[in-house]
Amino acid sequence: MTPDIFPLVAGNWKMNGERDKLDQLALMAQGVDEELADNVDVVVCPPSTLLYVATTLSEDTGLQVGAQDCHNEASGAHTGDISAEMIKDCLADYCIVGHSERRVDHGESDFHVAGKAQACWRAELTAIICIGETEAEYDAGKAEDVLSRQIAMSVPEGATEDDTIIAYEPVWAIGTGKTPSPDDVKAIHAFIREELAQKFGGHGERMRILYGGSVKPANAAELLSVENVDGALVGGASLKAEDFLAICDVYRKL
Ligand code: PGA
Repeated sequence: MTPDIFPLVAGNWKMNGERDKLDQLALMAQGVDEELADNVDVVVCPPSTLLYVATTLSEDTGLQVGAQDCHNEASGAHTGDISAEMIKDCLADYCIVGHSERRVDHGESDFHVAGKAQACWRAELTAIICIGETEAEYDAGKAEDVLSRQIAMSVPEGATEDDTIIAYEPVWAIGTGKTPSPDDVKAIHAFIREELAQKFGGHGERMRILYGGSVKPANAAELLSVENVDGALVGGASLKAEDFLAICDVYRKL
């Protein structure tokens, strides 16, 4: 938590979820009541095949919707890609960019990620920009160097707390059940905050920094109460409404 920063919990469904998972999404929409929405922004990012139906199902509820990736251009000859404008056209408000799985599976560089973040801004989507070191980088004591480079190169000039959210996801914690200790999370989030403040001034001080990597109902309260942790990016535990809402509920109780 950071005083005066409104937290956000986003669920990243990744390449999971056919239409039969829409009942979970409807339960999430039901679960985000006024009291919860007054304490935390709750966002679900289903696969793009479900995006429009997801915004339709969550219309007039507290649940917000985002996509998992976008192309940097608005339209054109890019088979299989979707643009930020198309995501906006589906009535979504957020888009994750630079997730480590995309950086690895699709060879996305910091330069690509920055272009995608700018595409989000162009379409009036809030960009959730992911950063994080690999296990080898962590073991070699290079986490801060990697994060510093990713912030310098993946987060474009002009980013503000209104159009950009940073998600710190140590790659070795994603889908592994391993998490850094609360003390380590505190230290690394403080480092990220300093880097953001140096680059973006007051905007960097107010930007939300999410923690991601094996967040579950059992560890959410501990992780989310750490200084400079302004929410979570949740993978596996966001597929079931009960688990996802239990994580969001931490803010109801804080
Ligand atoms: P996980 O994934 O919660 O399943 O570890 C997090 C993410 O990759 O966003």
